[in-house]
Amino acid sequence: MERLLIRGGRPLEGEIRISGAKNAALPVMAATLLADGPMTVGNIPHLHDITTTMELLGRMGVGLTVHERMQVEVDASTIESFRAPYELVKTMRASILVLGPLLARFGRAEVSLPGGCAIGSRPVNLHVDGLRAMGAEIVIEDGYIKGRAKRLRGARLRMDVSTVTGTENLMMAAALAEGTTIIENAAQEPEVADLAHCLMRMGAYLEGVGTSTLVIEGVERLNGIEYQVLPDRIETGTYLTAAAMCGGRVKLKDTHPGLLEAVIGKLRECGAAIDTGEDWIELTMVGRPRAVDIDTAPYPGFPTDMQAQFCALDAISDGTGKVVENVFENRFMHCLEMQRMGADIHIDGHTAHIRGVDRLTAAPVMATDLRASASLVLAGLVADGETRVDRIYHIDRGYECIEEKLAQLGADIRRLPE
Ligand code: UD1
Repeated sequence: MERLLIRGGRPLEGEIRISGAKNAALPVMAATLLADGPMTVGNIPHLHDITTTMELLGRMGVGLTVHERMQVEVDASTIESFRAPYELVKTMRASILVLGPLLARFGRAEVSLPGGCAIGSRPVNLHVDGLRAMGAEIVIEDGYIKGRAKRLRGARLRMDVSTVTGTENLMMAAALAEGTTIIENAAQEPEVADLAHCLMRMGAYLEGVGTSTLVIEGVERLNGIEYQVLPDRIETGTYLTAAAMCGGRVKLKDTHPGLLEAVIGKLRECGAAIDTGEDWIELTMVGRPRAVDIDTAPYPGFPTDMQAQFCALDAISDGTGKVVENVFENRFMHCLEMQRMGADIHIDGHTAHIRGVDRLTAAPVMATDLRASASLVLAGLVADGETRVDRIYHIDRGYECIEEKLAQLGADIRRLPE
């Protein structure tokens, strides 16, 4: 298995480009199933999860052409299978995003249940309940969600919990349903809004984009268009946090500061100076960061996908930080690995109490999920000695060229082949 070797202790200096958002690219690629004609999706990051999505669509018979700079052309007119098999869904839960589009456009779908994952139970009951309320007949059989529908009907859907992919699935289904769908307590994440913008460009009628109430007036058909997905706010936040930990000055280009105000606010609180323009962010850090308290929450709150990176930051900060995880159960696996690097962390239920230490020390550590692995890389960047991060396939699911980008900023990091 490939691994990363990181020799810590260097400040970060320089400029890098931020990739397109994985969590926007995945639903937009699923939305191509709704289009009557070919669609081209641009600013797609080159990541394992994208390859998995392409494999999923390809196995259904969907035509795929990859153009220069990861512009992907998708033509769903050749579709012949409506099944998302277990072996793909188990590597990427977001495969569930094909459920709504398949039912809405083709009236049938078989999608494997995702099963457990390293950060908690992560059910998909709200996706299924919403589609049932829109008239789909759904049974759970042999580990699969098996659905049939004539034309879906608009419905009033009240989401008990704010769910990102749940909102996206139902929004895509509603776009081709008959009548009006209202989604209450809809997720407000920028990636949900990005999908909504894409659907509107395809000819869908949506109101309330970016708010917690979405009103969708179904149409009979949607057009194939060209669409560029928005920049990755979590990748942006990860590199900013790295620079706040290592010290130095980094400029991130092709990103959007408005997407991560909660994160930028916390980085300022820890002592970083941050300048922003329309599509760039520059962070300067002198001296040691101050520990900050974090409470994760759905957008516009502090993102759960940045929690692990801030645990790494607090681990080497001045003072004590309290990190509360409110979105997922069991999302502190990275803390156990950081403890092996000398971090002083006490976990109590959903809260991590982190007392900053002067130095972390290198150790072999193991990535357990995508963001946890990013936090271990950040810890390695400031640790004394050479840190080895194993199981980095998790990182390759969500960070494009992480070692190249960090090396460009002056970090001593390299990938060891299998
Ligand atoms: C998405 C993101 C992921 C991020 C998460 C929270 C993608 C591809 N992934 O994941 O990176 O960490 O949002 O911001 O966009 N829930 C239910 N029933 C459901 C669905 C969800 O109870 O049917 C609960 C979950 O267990 C969790 C909470 O809702 O506690 C939020 O999960 P959700 O927003 O659905 O996460 P994902 O969409 O899977």
